[in-house]
Amino acid sequence: MVVLKTSRELRLMKEAGAIAAGALKAAGDAVKPGISTYELDRIAHKFIKDAGAYPTFLGYNGYPAAACISINDVVIHGIPSKKQIVKAGDIVSIDIGATFNGYVGDNAATFAAGEISPEAKRLSDTTREALYKGIEAAVAGNRLGDIGHAVQFYCEERGYSVVRSFTGHGVGTQMHEDPSVPNFGTPGRGLRLVPGMTIAIEPMINMGTHEIKQLSDGWTIKTKDGKLSAHFEHTIAITADGPVILTKV
Ligand code: MF3
Ligand code: CO
Repeated sequence: MVVLKTSRELRLMKEAGAIAAGALKAAGDAVKPGISTYELDRIAHKFIKDAGAYPTFLGYNGYPAAACISINDVVIHGIPSKKQIVKAGDIVSIDIGATFNGYVGDNAATFAAGEISPEAKRLSDTTREALYKGIEAAVAGNRLGDIGHAVQFYCEERGYSVVRSFTGHGVGTQMHEDPSVPNFGTPGRGLRLVPGMTIAIEPMINMGTHEIKQLSDGWTIKTKDGKLSAHFEHTIAITADGPVILTKV
């Protein structure tokens, strides 16, 4: 069931979104060679706590941290660890949710640690731009397939592949609400977008195969071929005036 939000609810979601975005920026600014993913998680957690919010991921299906931190061939759901030290040349995807006044903001971005290869930069830039292509297609009257197609077309045209076994999602009082928002699709197909829908669009884009594997920790998702992956996400609202990004600092 897709829950449409009132304008009052959209205001509350913007507050949660701003906290999630601030935490993402704080952690992202701290990405540098030598820092552990545990420390990056602490920075995000503290930002959320200091804002009077709750780190949505913590305890979600037993997840043990505030952020998912996914380096290089880790696509999503990397668990922060004191033993995992960021190295120069790594691409570091950070995914953070904040719950404030009962509403969730969910966002992610890929950051460069020191100097990264031109190939890694192009993947990361393409994934960020693909998110904005998806957001541009999130217009009332369009359909979910228009969003997915916009992301997929932009990435595949540049030689990358789109992860299929994970998708974006509705966001509201719950982090994961209906509908599921795939990063692939057919224009004009799928659920019609109407004002009041709030969704997270989150392309996970791979340099090689779209196939993934899950590690035995039950969380970490890696590319099957060991090639790089990038991830960007915003929570957005569909309004009569067009898409509004809720996860903005
Ligand atoms: N942020 C992820 C998403 O965008 C979900 C994280 S799973 C959790 O859907 F367990 F870490 F919360
Ligand atoms: Co999400």
